[in-house]
Amino acid sequence: MNENEYERELRVRKIKDGTVIDHIPAGKALAVMKILGLTGKEGNTISIVMNVGSKKLGKKDVLKIEKKELRSKEVNAIALIAPSATINIIRDYKVVRKYKVRVPKEITKVIHCSNPACITNYREPTIPKFKVIKTNPLILKCMYCGRYTLEDDVIKQFEVSTA
Ligand code: CTP
Ligand code: ZN
Repeated sequence: MNENEYERELRVRKIKDGTVIDHIPAGKALAVMKILGLTGKEGNTISIVMNVGSKKLGKKDVLKIEKKELRSKEVNAIALIAPSATINIIRDYKVVRKYKVRVPKEITKVIHCSNPACITNYREPTIPKFKVIKTNPLILKCMYCGRYTLEDDVIKQFEVSTA
């Protein structure tokens, strides 16, 4: 066990069952929580580790969600802000599935169009839909008004207010 791994082990212990989202870019764990719609009120244990050492990323965040196995469809939206993330499904302490998130070609719900006059922003039943034009940095194109929504705007939408 190297120093980083040892440090990590000390901070958050292994979980018995659930999902570990690993290799999240440092500082983005709370935004990932928000994209997943997790509030902490679900009742299951969730551990958030931020800015820990990683060989690949320098620093990273890790999210451990106990007693819940997230499906790839549910988690792929996090690839918009955390393309490096790895999903680990844990059963009885063992990693039984491991996969990288994939940026979907289209994205529905979750994100709001940057155009205030867009139909998705003023008519309740219209669910936002975007084409993913490019990632890193992210560029989304609204399928209703054609306006581009950029990565900074997306991050801002998922920023967690500390006020
Ligand atoms: N993990 C956990 N509880 C378990 C098993 C694993 O919380 N019962 C966590 C580990 O701490 C790690 C992640 O799940 O953050 C992936 O575990 P593992 O595949 O064992 O680690 P690595 O080999 O380092 O993963 P990778 O190659 O994806 O970096
Ligand atoms: Zn729009």
